[in-house]
Amino acid sequence: MTIKFLDLAAQNREIMAQVERGFEEIHAKTSYIGGPQVAAFENEFANFLGARHVVGVSSGTDALRLALLAIGIGPGDEVITTPMTFIATAEAIVQTGARPAFVDIDPNTGNLSVPEIARYLERARFTSPNGPRAILPVHLYGLPAAMIELRDLAQACDLKIVEDACQAHGARINYQGQSLFAGTIGAAGCFSFYPGKNLGAWGEGGAVATNDDAMAEQIRTLRDHGRLSHYAHSAYGYNARLDTIQAAVLRPKLERLEEWNAQRRRLAAIYRETLPQDGLTLLSEPAGSESCYHLFVIRSDRRDVIRTALLREEIECGIHYPVPLHLQPACRGLGYQHGDFPHAEAMADSVLSLPMHPFLSEREVMSVSKVVKHALATG
Ligand SMILES: Cc1ncc(COP(=O)(O)O)c(C=O)c1O
Repeated sequence: MTIKFLDLAAQNREIMAQVERGFEEIHAKTSYIGGPQVAAFENEFANFLGARHVVGVSSGTDALRLALLAIGIGPGDEVITTPMTFIATAEAIVQTGARPAFVDIDPNTGNLSVPEIARYLERARFTSPNGPRAILPVHLYGLPAAMIELRDLAQACDLKIVEDACQAHGARINYQGQSLFAGTIGAAGCFSFYPGKNLGAWGEGGAVATNDDAMAEQIRTLRDHGRLSHYAHSAYGYNARLDTIQAAVLRPKLERLEEWNAQRRRLAAIYRETLPQDGLTLLSEPAGSESCYHLFVIRSDRRDVIRTALLREEIECGIHYPVPLHLQPACRGLGYQHGDFPHAEAMADSVLSLPMHPFLSEREVMSVSKVVKHALATG
């Protein structure tokens, strides 16, 4: 029997009746652009996150691009980010005219290494003409980056932070008695609603969360052709609005996000208990961090042996990501080479994502662990 990597059909069954009611309202009003569904979703997601504003946009990539533009990033600027991420993180930087400056990861978490950034900043004082202007951390696989340390470093060095929370809907950092959601600690947090995300639409979608009134206003204008009113435009903007139909899908899913994430965390705990200790490493979840387990990722030198065994048993799995960004052909112009970021390179060579979604059963998780164990013992 197949064990699915992700089960969107099971999610759909839970929300279908509510989505249909939302669609009926949209059709009755024929309000296909913006309208009450988008406004309601933005309010509900802002309340969920404890952020002053959420601005719905057309994708996670656009969320990142518009947030970077809104903090003033443009041609000639440099933005520090991780090479261990999806290409969109770097694309958004390049689309503003700026240059991504990669810094290596912490191999224990897979997220940006704060000491490495500090070292880079020290060197950049002498080598970069303008110096970096911002840091773009990614909460990889749903595990919050070291945001408190990053925030301190950014403040000390006069840098802005835009968070790539595209994999981290509902992930948290507990700090000094406060529970802070990923995406609410920097100047802006960017979310993707690509269908497979913990909060996923039935197509493309994204959002920017921010506590800054002026930034929210600027992103609202930029996403909608720089509009002040229907035919008055303050600037050249973009067509980057959140689809009304997608807002109607996201609202009932948001109601269930906490429950679905709690189930992911329970399943992750079972993986941690039942996977073998020898032959593989698990990413650590530092004290105070609560991953939302968008993905459950193991690392092993024998990744390909494990992968073959899982596929033979019809257990779906994936590799996120097989090539770090600095070695992607698209990034060749940035001038990086093999060996520049050894931790990211080693991670790309060893990661394997196991099935993870809220409708996976405990039995299925234990079956996956058993196959992994057997593969390592015999392969
Ligand atoms: C880390 C990361 N950043 C950015 C994005 C881009 O989001 P979207 O596909 O909605 O443009 C994704 C989506 O896969 C992502 O995983």
